[in-house]
Amino acid sequence: MNPFPMVDPIPLPAPVWLFKALHLLTLSLHFTAMQMFLGGLLVAAVLSACSGSSVLRKGAAAALAHRLPILMTFVINLGVPPLLFAQVLYGPALYTSSQLIGVYWFSVIFMLMGCYWLLYKFAEGVDKGRNVWWMAAFAGVLALSISKIYSINMTLMLRPEVWQGMYAASPLGALLPPHDPTLIPRWLFMLSGAGWVSGFWMIWIAGRRTTALALGSYLAGLGGSLALGAILCQGALFSWVLKAQPTVVQEGINMSVWLKGAQIAWCSGAALVFIFALWVAVKKTCSYVAGYISMLLTVVTLSSWVILRDGIRDITLESKGFDVWQQAVVTNWGVVGWFVVILVLGLVALGWLIYVMMQAKPVSEGGMS
Ligand code: HEM
Repeated sequence: MNPFPMVDPIPLPAPVWLFKALHLLTLSLHFTAMQMFLGGLLVAAVLSACSGSSVLRKGAAAALAHRLPILMTFVINLGVPPLLFAQVLYGPALYTSSQLIGVYWFSVIFMLMGCYWLLYKFAEGVDKGRNVWWMAAFAGVLALSISKIYSINMTLMLRPEVWQGMYAASPLGALLPPHDPTLIPRWLFMLSGAGWVSGFWMIWIAGRRTTALALGSYLAGLGGSLALGAILCQGALFSWVLKAQPTVVQEGINMSVWLKGAQIAWCSGAALVFIFALWVAVKKTCSYVAGYISMLLTVVTLSSWVILRDGIRDITLESKGFDVWQQAVVTNWGVVGWFVVILVLGLVALGWLIYVMMQAKPVSEGGMS
């Protein structure tokens, strides 16, 4: 018997490839913002706790603290589109798993609110020179818990074999799923990503003309070193993630040119991240160019992971009776056309907002350079 609930009788209103492309694009953006945020928050907490009389540590903590509330809006807003696309494409699996852990899944909303509130309080406390590292630490615990719940849900949606047992044990959705060997490597992989992506974010901040030279080279050195350590960990976790997959998934990846390509792209990206991080850690480079290289490497490496991760999901689900490509599609080209027009207008508006922001009078950070 097929364990997946009956698919919605309403067919998909656009081709699967279009939803997939949009999902991959928006999820890459969510992961970029989320990893900058998660790592940046934890670094800000540590810097703030250990700042003592160090002006540079205080300055670095403040530079991150001021940006975190804005960054969090990006994490949330860039998380909504992939969630919608994932629900459209994988509804029978994702809705089921979300309900089975409903209590935890709902708690994300409250944890997000608590985290957001703490971020503002933290930034305010830092501005007033108060020792508020514990606020960032608490916000970090909430953000880590959210990330764990996401990993649990995205793993549970791939395990129809445990759904009935979980529902029988707790129809309320208060039970966590039984052990899954792929969960921990997958979650740790995302966390180690937060280490190097936030390190690259610090390199980006270091290159801004509003950042004083001394603070910039401190941020660049710290960001480079953090990225170096984290990408080494992530490399090890990458092979753990792949080895933890069932044989059918490993074989599926090896047989797909697209997924093999993504795997090679990730490894090449990670190697470049390593070399670049080493260079910045040694040279403490503060420049626009270094900032743009960080951004480019982040985009390439993260998007290749997003593609590979998507392939792992599709192969796993197919092996259990759900083929994402075999769904009824009745394309409503009028709606698709309107969607594209609104998307383009939205992107133009976003570009204009960024332009206005860049024209604004800059506020210098960490004293004058
Ligand atoms: C502090 C806030 C957040 C953190 C730390 C966070 C973290 C994560 C992590 C670690 C994953 C990867 C899970 C895995 O594959 O193992 C993930 C996936 C995801 N997150 Fe977030 N997230 C946050 C907020 C949000 C919000 C507010 C939304 C949407 C409203 C969102 C939407 C998504 C989606 C759609 C996915 C993946 C979906 C898929 O697999 O297709 N996230 N998030």
